[in-house]
Amino acid sequence: MNILQNISLKKYNTFGIDVSARFFVEVTSLLQLQKVLELKSYPKKFVLSGGSNILLTKDVDALVIYINLKGKTVLNQTEAKVLLKVMAGENWHELVLWCLEKDYGGLENLSLIPGNTGTAPIQNIGAYGVELKDVFESCTAMEIASGELVVFDKEQCRFGYRDSIFKQKAKGKYIITSVNFWLTKKNHPITTNYGAIEEELRNQDIVYPTIQDVSNAVIAIRQSKLPDPAQIGNSGSFFKNPIVSKKTFEKLKKEFPDAPSYSISKEQIKVPAGWLIEKCDFKGRRIGDAGVHEKQALVLVNHGNASGVEILDLAQSIQKRVRETFKIDLQPEVNIIR
Ligand code: EPU
Repeated sequence: MNILQNISLKKYNTFGIDVSARFFVEVTSLLQLQKVLELKSYPKKFVLSGGSNILLTKDVDALVIYINLKGKTVLNQTEAKVLLKVMAGENWHELVLWCLEKDYGGLENLSLIPGNTGTAPIQNIGAYGVELKDVFESCTAMEIASGELVVFDKEQCRFGYRDSIFKQKAKGKYIITSVNFWLTKKNHPITTNYGAIEEELRNQDIVYPTIQDVSNAVIAIRQSKLPDPAQIGNSGSFFKNPIVSKKTFEKLKKEFPDAPSYSISKEQIKVPAGWLIEKCDFKGRRIGDAGVHEKQALVLVNHGNASGVEILDLAQSIQKRVRETFKIDLQPEVNIIR
């Protein structure tokens, strides 16, 4: 086991924030992970995976454990379905592409989401009408205190909108080591009724889309408005889309008749945070190297050398202005490490 010291974490977080880890270790097997967790000489430990949903605001004074567990295994299959086990360190988009190659359906709407498979259940990643929970069977996690492996089934994960037990009761207690998915092998259900997918397929003259077509459409849409973290540091949507009561929304609509919305239930309405932020004139704004993306106001970006604190300051100014203008509180989706 190779424990390094004072390692820059710039390439380990998609925001590209240049802070350092006091100690750093990469783990590639479950046994190694167990051994690292047992190390008494490093009492403070910090788990890092794809680094696509965190904002680091200072050096990490702990042993950073970089989860690099790899592997994909078919556990079970019928003529119509396959149960796939994927280790936590597998890159998410590479997994999606691998499934398309095998003609396994279910993940295509989630194409091009940055990050690794093991962190996908934590915030129940979602895009274009599909959430991770729709294909999730179970996940295995190592309890940090004991090093024991525990299986969480779908119900136990308590999935919600960008939420799960791993952001609530189980927060900081487990490391997800692998995730099992049920995927389809034929007659793939196709979800195209959300966002701009239908329009994109129409533009391409596709009437009966395959899962590959859906993936291509999602990739085209994402590339047209979301910045590529390899080019410009970001963490996808910085805030969650707020869910407000119908009454609150009706009041808002009186003042802002163009306010977009999605109905969640009889009583609840989701308002796109990107619209709220754009209305407050933040779209494309830049303070030093911290900025709001010019094509998607929900995405904060690092134009080069922004510090985590600068991004956080910008996020807080946005929250303040949105609260003053709309009386709506924006909750960060990104995990802020202070
Ligand atoms: N909008 C604006 N201005 C903007 C951005 C958005 O007015 O600058 C309004 C428009 O009305 C637009 C609507 O917001 O139609 C929705 O925008 P978009 O389709 O880009 O989706 P989103 O609600 O901003 C969510 C997810 C994304 C996911 C897309 C597509 C959250 C927090 N974000 O964004 O997920 O890709 O839907 O399904 O729910 C992520 O979580 O990191 C992420 C990128």
